Amino acid sequence: MALFERKTETENVTGDAATRALSVAAVENDFVEGVYDKLANVYDLIFGPTLHPGRLRAIERMNIQPGERVLEVGVGTGINLSLYPREATVTGIDFSSSMLEKARERAARKDAAPVRLLQMDAADLKFADNAFDIVYAPYLISVVPDPVKVAQEMRRVCRPGGRIIFLNHFLSPNPILSRIERLISPFTVHIGFKSDLDLPAFVAQTDLKPVSIEKVNVPKIWSLVTCVK
Ligand SMILES: C[S@@+](CC[C@H](N)C(=O)[O-])C[C@H]1O[C@@H](n2cnc3c(N)ncnc32)[C@H](O)[C@@H]1O
Repeated sequence: MALFERKTETENVTGDAATRALSVAAVENDFVEGVYDKLANVYDLIFGPTLHPGRLRAIERMNIQPGERVLEVGVGTGINLSLYPREATVTGIDFSSSMLEKARERAARKDAAPVRLLQMDAADLKFADNAFDIVYAPYLISVVPDPVKVAQEMRRVCRPGGRIIFLNHFLSPNPILSRIERLISPFTVHIGFKSDLDLPAFVAQTDLKPVSIEKVNVPKIWSLVTCVK
């Protein structure tokens, strides 16, 4: 747990990461699906350029090799699709039909690399164990009702030695910022994410072992978390 050796006020107050609440905001799938169905037409405009440096860094770090099987969990409008090398075998899943429709339009473009797009709940992946070399969740894990269940599913479908990657905003280690993030989280869910997902608590409640955590985007309040199964 060396990657998380930082004492924060939150830790002092709430105790051990393994038992700490992941977020103060509770959401259900129907609610999240409704939010993204509404956001589909404007998603790329609002969350496109601002969050793109992190997407580019993630692809660079993945160092995808020819023939590798990549699963993108929460593929959304397919904003990452053009970033994957053509030699990779890419599958994208999402449960919002409006977001998937946008992804399908993107995938149908002449210059697009082949991709399989499927409607599915990230907490109940319809794939066999060990089916992918890389399982990647860009800007997803703070959106789902049960991040631990989703992480367990991602781990299950990843082959031993494969990579499980999260790109996301997590609760700040700064006590003042983290208070603000906790306060606003019940409101940010209406625009598609919880602002206070606690990364050490999340990792402690899963079987994941991060091998690297790097800060991305501007300001650097998003993290690229790479784990190896
Ligand atoms: C913030 S968007 C991320 C889109 C894209 N990956 C990106 O890089 O911008 C989150 C996506 O996750 C999807 N999503 C949320 N909860 C989900 C779940 N339980 N199962 C599948 N998809 C989910 C939403 O519909 C939305 O398209």
